[in-house]
This record gives sequence, structure tokens and C-alpha cells, in this order.
Amino acid sequence: MCYNILVNEKRNYTAMWENKDIKKILISEDQIRERSRELGAQITADYRDRTEPLLLVALLRGSVPFLAELIKYIDLDIQVDFMDVSSYQGTQSTDIRIIKDLDTSIKGMNILLVEDIIDTGKTIKEVVKTLLHKGANEVRIVALLNKQEGRKVDVKADYNGFEIENEFVVGFGLDFNQRYRCLPYVGVLKEECYQVKE
Ligand code: IMP
Ligand code: MG
Repeated sequence: MCYNILVNEKRNYTAMWENKDIKKILISEDQIRERSRELGAQITADYRDRTEPLLLVALLRGSVPFLAELIKYIDLDIQVDFMDVSSYQGTQSTDIRIIKDLDTSIKGMNILLVEDIIDTGKTIKEVVKTLLHKGANEVRIVALLNKQEGRKVDVKADYNGFEIENEFVVGFGLDFNQRYRCLPYVGVLKEECYQVKE
């Protein structure tokens, strides 16, 4: 009874954004959960026999919901840390700048970078370079989304959630001007929502 009320409330809440600003839902909450479960199992199998600890480095802020979903399915003795690098201003890619660095010393560690989406690839490529320079033993990448068409540098995720078309998406952590991160799904924003009002 109570459960039904909660589900209905959630549906209404989701529908509010859908009707207002979202053109179409690309990837549902259930699909994200299922894919995260598969990726978590794959990561667990791949790292099971390693003796060095595994550090998951999540890039703020967009990868936080994906990190939270993914780690439920990684059955290993992992640690988590965060980095914040500048990425998009509006819908244009910009050069990266480190805003928040890691708190963990990563010398000799195996790192799994957790990213929401790889587009041009510039952000993640720079981050990988920085982490190796700091003495990481190995850096792999897990990304929820991949926009292959947008690629400008040669980089690819070792673990890839979903391939998507070259269109701007929001939800499940991904934002447009800091909005829409709370959507439980990944969706395409209506074009009129890009027009920034003063
Ligand atoms: P890249 O350096 O072009 O690969 O940019 C990756 C970063 O840009 C991601 O971490 C996102 O923060 C942002 N980004 C790229 N595409 C999108 C999108 O479609 N929606 C929201 N953010 C995006
Ligand atoms: Mg990002």
C-alpha cells in the first residue's frame, strides 16, 4: 500500500521533468541498474586476483550517481576518492583544470576512474596522464556513457555502460548548467532548454 504510493509519487515527479524539458528518455533507471550490475561483476572478476588495493576515483560531480550504483556490485576491498576537473561550460568542451585533487596518495595503486560520459575524451585523457604522473601503477576507466562520434583524442573506456548518439543528454548525474542531475534516467533535453534566459 505505502509502496504503491511511493512509486506513484516518484512517477509523477519524473513525469514532471519529462513533460517540461525532456524530449525523450534514452536509458531508463532499470537499464542503468542492470548494466551497473554487469559492469560490477566484470570488474570484480578482473581484479579478484590482484594483491594491490583498488582505488575508485570518481570525477565530480556527474559521476556520483553512477559511482553509488556501481560500487554496490563490486565485491572487492575497494577505496573511493574524488577529483573535480573543469569540463563543460554550457554545451561546449573546454580545456581541463584541476579544481579538487585527490586526498589519497596513489603511488603504486591500481586506479579505476569512474566517469559519467566520454565525449571528446580530452578530460579523461588528461586525468589519466595526471594520475600516472603521480605514480599510479595502472589506470583503467569505467564510463556510464560513450559518445564515440564526439571523440577528438584517442582514448576509450575499459568498461563501457552504453553507447549513445552525438546529442546532449542530462540526468543520472549529468547536468546542463548544474540542472537535471537528479533525474533517475538519462534523457535528451529539448532544444529550447539550451536557450539561457537572463
Ligand atoms: P570530454 O572531455 O569532451 O570527453 O567531456 C567529458 C565531460 O563533459 C563529462 O564528464 C561531462 O561532464 C561533460 N559532458 C559531455 N557530454 C555531455 C552531455 O551530453 N551532457 C552533459 N555533460 C556532458
Ligand atoms: Mg564530468
